[in-house]
Amino acid sequence: MTRTENLLSGTPPIVQARHLAKQVAFHGQLLHILNDISFECQSGETLAILGKSGSGKSTLLGLLAGLDNPSQGEVMLLGQSINALGEDARARLRAGRVGFVFQNFQLLDMLTALENVMLPLGLQQHKAAEAVATEWLQKVGLGDRLHQLPASLSGGEQQRVALARAFVTRPEILFADEPTGNLDSETGDTIIRLLFELQKEHHTTLVIVTHDDQLASQCQRQIRLEKGRLVSQPSPQADTLSDTATLA
Ligand SMILES: Nc1ncnc2c1ncn2[C@@H]1O[C@H](COP(=O)(O)OP(=O)(O)O)[C@@H](O)[C@H]1O
Ligand SMILES: [Mg+2]
Repeated sequence: MTRTENLLSGTPPIVQARHLAKQVAFHGQLLHILNDISFECQSGETLAILGKSGSGKSTLLGLLAGLDNPSQGEVMLLGQSINALGEDARARLRAGRVGFVFQNFQLLDMLTALENVMLPLGLQQHKAAEAVATEWLQKVGLGDRLHQLPASLSGGEQQRVALARAFVTRPEILFADEPTGNLDSETGDTIIRLLFELQKEHHTTLVIVTHDDQLASQCQRQIRLEKGRLVSQPSPQADTLSDTATLA
């Protein structure tokens, strides 16, 4: 369904931020990292969270995915308010239904490409984990690299393994944090093409954090963070290099 169809039919958003705020104590002061963030993302939608370095994008993604807790507000993910849930219940909710892709790939160094992709299936006690993981590595063009360790793969190849690992359980929603941040632009473009190809094929909801307008424009909808706040338009001062959190 399209966003409009979802909205009209009253289908609940797949993820929703309700007045999220995050503060951390830092050198005796309270650092306001995120302030009163509210928005939602419909099932099947592709959403870009744009913002300069330090604007709070990764912190926000961590809250949306339930990897971290907000100081105020709540996150609804897959129909549940996740902040009332304990770590284990949250992990159970995410298992197989939520995928992640990170800037630094986050593969397990001691495991081969195949074992990395099998991991999320192993957690689901998948009978044919090896066959399914092999198929996914073939799909991302690494059918001949199954038994290599991450250290022996290029950055682009490692991110392909990470994409296979993220999609192998056919998640309903995938969170990606600057997935091309550590790649040269040509390799980055290839990864993004692959990411959107897999997203379309599997109708995965995609929430992608990026400082790259061109990448963001490939999503159906964009929202922008500036100094921990959502803005509809970039402000006139927005051409500084970074957006650090404000002190209070
Ligand atoms: N645990 C923390 N302690 C102190 N400052 C933090 C902490 N986490 C994030 N920050 C600060 O909050 C701001 C936003 O960080 P982040 O969410 O990583 O931004 P982005 O992903 O947009 O670059 C930055 O100024 C960062 O230094
Ligand atoms: Mg970040």
